[in-house]
Amino acid sequence: MEGLLDCVLRDILTRVGGIDLCVSEFVRVSGSLLPNRTFQRIVPELDHDSKTLAGVPVRVQLLGSDSHFMALNAARLAALKPDSIDLNFGCPAKTVNRHGGGSILLREPDRLLELVTAVRTAIPPEMMLTAKMRLGYEDKTLALDCARAIEAGGATELVVHARTKVEGYKPPAHWEWIGRIQDVLQIPVIANGEIWTVADYQRCREISGVEDVMLGRGMVANPALAHLIKYGEDDAVRWAQLESLLADFWMLVTRHTLPKYHCGRAKQWLNYLRQTYPEAEVLYQTVRTVTEPEKMAEILSPPVQ
Ligand SMILES: Cc1cc2nc3c(=O)[nH]c(=O)nc-3n(C[C@H](O)[C@H](O)[C@H](O)COP(=O)(O)O)c2cc1C
Repeated sequence: MEGLLDCVLRDILTRVGGIDLCVSEFVRVSGSLLPNRTFQRIVPELDHDSKTLAGVPVRVQLLGSDSHFMALNAARLAALKPDSIDLNFGCPAKTVNRHGGGSILLREPDRLLELVTAVRTAIPPEMMLTAKMRLGYEDKTLALDCARAIEAGGATELVVHARTKVEGYKPPAHWEWIGRIQDVLQIPVIANGEIWTVADYQRCREISGVEDVMLGRGMVANPALAHLIKYGEDDAVRWAQLESLLADFWMLVTRHTLPKYHCGRAKQWLNYLRQTYPEAEVLYQTVRTVTEPEKMAEILSPPVQ
């Protein structure tokens, strides 16, 4: 998740267990062939067999609208041996849509077909190609056509974020549409959108009828969510464990990001965590006004006595 769930949080969250696969934040492709180091910077797991340190595979996502350059970049990425490649047809960001990428492509199923076909043809046949879509741009009238186009282009799995671009991130997610899409496709459809709790997961499965889900913000707010879904209620992450994950998160943030982002990253995650942990609320209030990394380090990663 661009600007939120990067290699640092992937490392931390996959330590908890329950996650089968991660998808990277998007790598944006415009009119050039990106150097290897761009893929490796955004997805450093590429240098570790495309897995997080906990051993969870990482699929790399590409975002773009030019078939030629998407194909060229996908071929280059494929040479770096990602677990698999995903195409983003869901991003609602204005700058991305203005350049013809992300969710705006959902207005043109023919272009989706062209793009997926171009990438499929450019990468080795054994490499899995998947896609992620919303239900449409303004409305849902083209949802089934878009899904069919993605399948016809050669994608072998489709994640559906059950909202249109215009619906943004506002609840509800329209899970019933995921089932409608699965009904017209042969490839597996993965449900996404508004799964914050085990109960949401169960309702999403009931309503959509599909087996698998992709967790988004819910996983950031509750690092135990995938574990709870997969193994049941007994092993939730307690605050003491989370405190140690927060200390490790801080250490990794300082290693992987520029100093000007350090404090912001800590507040950003705590802002999500306080939805689940009352202790995170207290900590969030403590760090809200902290802008010096040294001070933040003292709070999040106090020296062992
Ligand atoms: C800050 C942020 C960044 C995101 N970046 C990406 C991205 O790079 N690629 C992608 O496919 N989806 C991205 N998404 C969308 C999420 O993956 C997910 O589809 C969406 O949040 C709906 O799921 P949720 O309601 O469980 O969060 C992003 C969402 C947020 C909030």
